[in-house]
Amino acid sequence: MPCLSAIPVSIMETTYIMVKPDGVQRGLVGEIIGRFERKGLQLVALKQVIPTEEIARTHYAVHSERPFFPGLMKFITSGPVVCMAWQGKDSISVARLLIGPTNGREAAPGTIRGDFGMDMGFNMIHGSDAVDTANFELNLWFPEGLNTWTQDSQTWVYE
Ligand code: RTP
Ligand code: MG
Repeated sequence: MPCLSAIPVSIMETTYIMVKPDGVQRGLVGEIIGRFERKGLQLVALKQVIPTEEIARTHYAVHSERPFFPGLMKFITSGPVVCMAWQGKDSISVARLLIGPTNGREAAPGTIRGDFGMDMGFNMIHGSDAVDTANFELNLWFPEGLNTWTQDSQTWVYE
């Protein structure tokens, strides 16, 4: 018998999260990872890279015609970023809630950008905004693939 309930079904997702050069320079990597861990998300890939112009352009291709694009390219390629993949139920939207709106001055306290950011450009962290963009970004930054592992504590995160 198919389930016809109107209750939205939560999907296990993986989202691409990246601490940007300002977050790395300001020593916020541990703080940011801690927030994702404490929320109950599961880390399935992690590395530090200095983005090439090519990967930065591909990642932000949707913004290529925007006036801020040259500045965004200069910023993202200016130093190391920390690339991560986080898995969990609805992890894409959950991560965007943890991160907060683009401009730190408009982001609520309690969010990463709200607690640590004062600007639109220097907003410390990227999070995928949809399933298709998450898959695109995970393939782009982690062509080697992600890890599959069982985190025992997840049995105490989801009922
Ligand atoms: P992100 O993609 O980096 O996670 O940020 P987002 O979804 O909150 O914002 P998005 O609209 O995708 O913009 C990507 C990045 O471009 C810079 N930006 N500057 N000056 C401007 O009007 C402007 N708008 C966007 C920000 O650094 C933003 O994170
Ligand atoms: Mg975005």
